Formats: sequence, structure tokens, C-alpha cells
Amino acid sequence: MIMRMDFDLPSETESPTTAMDAPLSLLLSLLLLSAGPCAAQETTVTTKYGQLSGLTTDYDGVSIRAFLGVPFAKPPTGDLRFMPPVEPEPWDGVREATAFGPACPQEKMFLPGFVEPFLNSARQWSEDCLTLNVYAPVRNPSAADPLAVMVYIHGGGWQVGTGSENNGTQLAAENNVIVVTLNYRLGAFGFLGTGDQHAPGNLGLLDQRLAINWVKENIASFGGDVDRMTIFGLSAGGISVSLHLLSPLNTGLFRRAITQSGTAFTPGTLGTKESALADARRLAQSLDCDRVATEDLVSCLKSKTAQDVLTASSAVQSPSHISFTPIVDGTFLPTSPEEIFAQGSVEAREHIIGVSSMEGGIVLYNGLYEQIVSEDTFREHLEYVMGVYNSTNLVQITHAAKFEYLTNATASPRDVQKDFMRMYGDWMFVAPTTRMAREFANAGNPTYMYLFDQPPSFFDHQWIGGASHGEENYFLWPSSRSDMMTDAEKLLGLRMRRTWTDFAKTGNPNSVDLPVIWPQYDQHSRQYLVLSTTLGSDSVKAHMHSKQVFFWNYIVSALARVCCTCAGLVSGGASLWATGTLLAVWSLVVGFRAVV
Ligand SMILES: *[C@@H]1O[C@H](CO)[C@@H](O)[C@H](O)[C@H]1NC(C)=O
Ligand SMILES: *[C@@H]1O[C@H](CO)[C@@H](O)[C@H](O)[C@H]1NC(C)=O
Ligand SMILES: *[C@@H]1O[C@H](CO)[C@@H](O)[C@H](O)[C@H]1NC(C)=O
Repeated sequence: MIMRMDFDLPSETESPTTAMDAPLSLLLSLLLLSAGPCAAQETTVTTKYGQLSGLTTDYDGVSIRAFLGVPFAKPPTGDLRFMPPVEPEPWDGVREATAFGPACPQEKMFLPGFVEPFLNSARQWSEDCLTLNVYAPVRNPSAADPLAVMVYIHGGGWQVGTGSENNGTQLAAENNVIVVTLNYRLGAFGFLGTGDQHAPGNLGLLDQRLAINWVKENIASFGGDVDRMTIFGLSAGGISVSLHLLSPLNTGLFRRAITQSGTAFTPGTLGTKESALADARRLAQSLDCDRVATEDLVSCLKSKTAQDVLTASSAVQSPSHISFTPIVDGTFLPTSPEEIFAQGSVEAREHIIGVSSMEGGIVLYNGLYEQIVSEDTFREHLEYVMGVYNSTNLVQITHAAKFEYLTNATASPRDVQKDFMRMYGDWMFVAPTTRMAREFANAGNPTYMYLFDQPPSFFDHQWIGGASHGEENYFLWPSSRSDMMTDAEKLLGLRMRRTWTDFAKTGNPNSVDLPVIWPQYDQHSRQYLVLSTTLGSDSVKAHMHSKQVFFWNYIVSALARVCCTCAGLVSGGASLWATGTLLAVWSLVVGFRAVV
């Protein structure tokens, strides 16, 4: 077992400036001021809570001021564990912001292979982890127009990740925007909920929201434009972005959003107060805290060390049911995303939304895919992953999905695995993303949809035949692989970064570097842009995976509803009849597909 110590970072965990240091720091900043206005502007900024002193990094001759480990909340420890975040205390003097704060508590996740976007090597963590990082171009003091601001929310399935894994220097320097990355509470610390005020749940999302609010209140001091704020994220970060778009608490908080490979419709991610309470009780049981009254249960959990809570909460997880995820809590998320759209209460914002071409490559991560070699093993794994559906028609749904995707049961294991990945990717990502694009476009949000289709050349899983989950981030952020890219890949990266940042600046991703017009998505033409090194006039396509999207969004969702409308009201015969009808409709669709 790997031991992990709470991160001991004196400058972060102690009060930022002791009484004795304060006059000295003041003197130092005065000295800096007298050295010239530019030097002072480079590294010291005044926020609502006090002064910050950052450092200067450099990318391609452009200087960027980085302010790292900036607290945007009080430490969520002691009585504040499992509670919504609270604004930080102000400080006197100048606070050093030159090193990342520790990550939030997380277990090492073994992700074999090539999963750098989410790779977390035995990270040092502390429960006192609510910090953000600002990367702001050095500005000429007379520069009048403030800069667009991009706030990034990392992924990692709500269980792992940290703001420090994405270095914002390049994005900020290349395209003259301000980039902010942030930490939010993960796992039980971020998502434990008892369905009442003792642990209201969605704490990680509220952390993100408080960080975004910090940016709104303070970014002008860094040269940022509060009216041009974009939030963006990948995977669980993309789902977070999607949920922020739907939350009525966020009215007027930000203007634009980019959701990469994850939306509020992603199956199995949105729990209920009841499912959260069940998770909380299972955790409590393993820590000897199972009290009937939730107040007692939570107070017992608060008495445990962070390490104990972390270890126990990892043991509660199972691959087909991720515990400690966002829930419909009645406040941040008043009701289901479907209902929110139906009520027409979504604020109009510009939106980029997209997926990778072989999202299902994500199953490579756990190594289990090697066992998918035949029709039987295909079905077994399908039943396993479909466990996130709590539906009495699971058997029919599983059969339907197998029939839809397993094209040739006697094909090679690699082909069966590819069929499985296509199935998984459409189910988890393409179908929900398409549905979300449609809902947002219909709700009056200018929406741009993309398909990222450039499998990085430096990976040896080319056989999957597309770009896997998260691989677009190699093109948006620097990584240890950046130097391994071909010139064509580097150009694509440059174009994508320009596109993302131009969108942040203007609400339109059509930068001059894009050799094609990226049209808006609408329900009828359903156009999207294919992002690849062969970007050109034929990169605009329409109707992404249309048959499969229809299968998931109409046939399967209808199948999943059949039992609930009928159960207890009409006889089992009627229910069977309804199921039969749907299956008949579905076979027509499959038949149609075979003909096309
Ligand atoms: C971020 O990137 C810049 C530019 O490449 C580099 O100078 C800096 O050291 C990086 N920061 C970290 C923390 O890796
Ligand atoms: C599944 O649904 C049934 C009936 O609606 C409900 O009683 C049960 O608690 C659900 N199970 C889970 C794990 O959500
Ligand atoms: C299925 O795959 C096997 C093995 O590759 C091949 O021999 C056979 O022709 C395929 N059948 C169809 C219908 O494509």
C-alpha cells in the first residue's frame, strides 16, 4: 500500500504572511515599485483578499505572469469538510503565489498505457487544496482593452486530477488571453451528500463555481475582461461545464463555454439525493460511522482523518457504479437536465461542444478490453458496463446494443474490441453530446460542434482507428509528448489553440487560421467540423453517427421508459406488448441501416 502524507507546504498552509514578515514584504514591494512601474506590475497584483506576488514565465519570447496556489476559499477542513465552500479570509501584506498548491485528496489511479490527460502519479495532496492558478500576459500599463479569460476545469472522473496538470503559459502567450486553472474537491470530499443540509452534495461543483466567481471578481486586476469569460473542460471537466451552463445559480457569471467529451447527459454520472445518501451510508459503514441521523453520521465522518476517508471511499467504488458524483440537489441543479431544458430556463451563451472519433478507446485504460474476444465476452462486458442503467429492460437494451454493434461475431478479437469501443463511445459520448448540442442550439445558444479525429502519431494504439477519449488535449496543452508531434500535428495544435482562444475572445471560433468556415450547429443541418491535420474545405460534415445516435437517443431511451409507464398500472401483458412494439420499431431501424 502506498502511504501518502498530507502535503506540508508552509507558505500555503500557514497564514500567508506573519505579522513580522508583513512590513518586510511591504518594504520589498515598495522597493520594487521604485525600481519602475513595469517590474512591479509584472509580479504584484491586488485582489479583493490581499496582494499577490507571482513569478514570470516565458514562452517563445512572450512573458507571462503566473500566480500559483492562490486560495479562493477557506480550507474545507474540520467543520467545513463536506460543506459548501466559503470565501477565504483576507490577508495583510503580500502573499507569495509562486508555487502550485497541493492537489485535493485522491488515490493513485493506475491507468495503464497512455492516459496522460488523467494520469496521476502518487500525487501529494492536502485536504486544504482549494487554490487556483492565473497565467496572465505581461501588459503595457497603458494597454486599454482588457483580455479574454479562459477558466479550465480538469477531468478525472470526479476522483483524480489537479489544476496544476495543465500549464497555461503557452495558451496565454501564443494567443494573448488570460488562463486560469483550478482545484476542486474530489471523491467523497467533493461529492458526499446526505440529501440534507449536513452534507448537501455537489461540493466540488460549488468549489468550481466559487473559483469562477473569484475570477469574475478579481481578474480585472490581472488585465482580464469580466465580460469575456469562457469556462472549458474535458471529460468530468466537460460534464462540469455542462452542469454550470444549466445551473440557475450561475446566471451572469460567465459568457461562453467549451465542453470536451462529456455532458450533463453522459449516462450514469448524475445521481439523486437518495443515491448519494446510499453511497454516504456505505462509506459510513466502513468507517464505523453508520448512524441513523445524518447529522451524527456526518459529524462522525468529520472526526476521521482525511486519509481514512480517502481509503474507505476508494473501497466503496465499483467500476460499473462511480460513487460520489454530481447529483440533482434541488439548488445548484434544481431538477434533471431534461426538465431544465423543458422549462426553457437556460441562459443563452455561446458554446463549443464536441467529441473524439473513437471515444470508446477509453476502455483501453482498464486493460479489461483484452478479454473481449468473442460474442460471449462482448455480451458479458456489455452487461457489466450497462450496469449504470437502473432499468428493468436492461436485458432487452443489452441485446439490442449487441445486435447493433457486434458486426461479425467470428471476426478477430481486435475487430470485436473495436466494435465494443464504437458501442461504448456512441453510448457514453457521441449520443449524449449530440442531444446536448441540439438542446442548447434549440435553447438559443450559438453552438459549434466538432469531432476530433487525429489519433496522435506517438501512440501505438493506432489500430483502434480513431482518436481516443481526451487525446485532443495533447493539441491544446503542452505535455511531455509535445516534442514528439509531427509538423502537421503541431500545426493542428496551433490552429486548435487559436480556434479555442478566438472563440473566447469573440464567441466565434472562426479564426483566420482556420482554412474552412465552421458553421453553427442547428437541429436541421446538424453540421460539425472534423478537426484533423487534413483540415480543409471538406472538413465540415453533417449528422454525426446519425443511425447510432438515433439508436441510443430514441430506441434505447424509449425501451428504458417502457416499464415505468406501465408498471403497476397495466398488466404485464401490456408492458410486454409495448416492449415488443419498440423492438419491432428498432428492428426496422436496423433493417434500414443494413440497406443503406
Ligand atoms: C510552464 O510552461 C512554461 C513555458 O514553456 C515554462 O517556462 C514553465 O516552467 C512551465 N511551468 C511549469 C510549472 O511547468
Ligand atoms: C433502481 O430503481 C428502483 C426502482 O425505481 C429503486 O428502488 C432502486 O433504489 C434503484 N437502484 C439504484 C441503485 O438506484
Ligand atoms: C467475419 O470474420 C471472419 C474472420 O475474419 C471472416 O472470415 C468472415 O468472412 C466475416 N464475415 C462477414 C459476414 O464479414
